[in-house]
Amino acid sequence: MNGIHLFKTKMVKKMENKGNEIIDPLPMKSLLVLFSYHHNNTEKIANVFAKVLNAQIKKPQQINPEELQEYSLIGFGSGIYGAKHHEYLLDLADKLPQATNKKAFIFSTSAIMGKAKVAKDHSNLREKLESKGYIIVGEFSCKGFNTNSFLKYFGGMNKGRPNAEDLEHAEEFAQNLKQNAHGS
Ligand SMILES: Cc1cc2nc3c(=O)[nH]c(=O)nc-3n(C[C@H](O)[C@H](O)[C@H](O)COP(=O)(O)O)c2cc1C
Repeated sequence: MNGIHLFKTKMVKKMENKGNEIIDPLPMKSLLVLFSYHHNNTEKIANVFAKVLNAQIKKPQQINPEELQEYSLIGFGSGIYGAKHHEYLLDLADKLPQATNKKAFIFSTSAIMGKAKVAKDHSNLREKLESKGYIIVGEFSCKGFNTNSFLKYFGGMNKGRPNAEDLEHAEEFAQNLKQNAHGS
């Protein structure tokens, strides 16, 4: 039996067949904590995640840290400003109570991409969440339109980003998270 079949068998075992409808008895409750202000670039990505994960989107300022206990998967995302996530997200991470094995993922949009650069941009938030007992199950990033500072005089950079392809990647990322959450 190959990997795909094994996976399907596992999934089917977790489901109940009710008439013609297949009902998943263990839906995971997901939340997205988002701060996106420059061009709402990160919000476009969050909207794709929200659809796939059936998740609500809240601003960090709307979160009561205790309420996060209710969720089994939480995505934290913003644009990158000064080489890190927005202060509101970092401040929230500082206030979170200690969690045990809670799954989280990190996402961002930024002007400049690159594996090492994104890893560094995410490191502040990642380290704060990990120190609170969160398990980071994935990280997503893509380019976002940027008119910060002098760039506004030249039409900005990354016009049109996130684009349709970025949104497709976001959808694939969220689908993977969903499958892995159910598979584990
Ligand atoms: C004040 C400010 C600082 C920024 N700093 C960085 C940075 O350090 N590195 C980077 O790659 N992009 C930087 N950017 C670009 C943003 O990360 C990018 O435009 C992002 O998509 C904005 O997301 P938002 O529209 O969701 O707020 C900065 C933008 C602003 C407005």
